[in-house]
Amino acid sequence: MSEAVDRVLIGREELQAKVSELAQCISRDYEGEELVLVGVLKGAIFFMADLARQVAVPCALDFMAVSSYGSSTDSSGVVRILKDLDAEIEGKHVIIVEDIVDSGLTLSYLMKNLRSRKPASLEVCALLTKPARRRIQLECTYVGFEIPDVFVVGYGLDLAERFRTLDYIGTLRAEAAAVVEGDGSLP
Ligand code: IMP
Ligand code: MG
Repeated sequence: MSEAVDRVLIGREELQAKVSELAQCISRDYEGEELVLVGVLKGAIFFMADLARQVAVPCALDFMAVSSYGSSTDSSGVVRILKDLDAEIEGKHVIIVEDIVDSGLTLSYLMKNLRSRKPASLEVCALLTKPARRRIQLECTYVGFEIPDVFVVGYGLDLAERFRTLDYIGTLRAEAAAVVEGDGSLP
């Protein structure tokens, strides 16, 4: 375990079991169809990679990168597209794959944006959700875990680009978080 991590919230095996479960639900719901999975960079990369390989229907993978104005731990709802989809999604069945829904502002923007491109259907698959932080009503069809209002890292989630590669989801020691946010170095 990383020295900066205070506590493991969701361990590797629990994560992998949930990803399999979500993939089974998606495979069942889209049987006989083709899908476009839209991963939101960079937080969703490991989740997307693990999920996509277990979905049993044909999947195209595409990615968007967005940046939300605001501090590293609070989003403002004003979203800038840094990387758009490579392909058109008109008439396609699309699932947005997100690491975490926090205020919901980023996702709400993305859904509005993608819906305007007229996909056949548009759903959301989020690994984590923090209902206590929600500032906007959102329908997520597939959700892995509801977590309390704590800042988490690992399995794609970062603090200032650190900790994404942990294979579990954990919380940080307060001192470690303060140092990472301060000058980027760890104690
Ligand atoms: P929202 O617009 O507030 O829902 O922000 C969602 C984005 O904020 C996620 O895609 C993450 O990139 C980031 N985020 C929110 N909560 C956390 C957290 O606990 N750890 C790491 N990143 C987070
Ligand atoms: Mg994200």
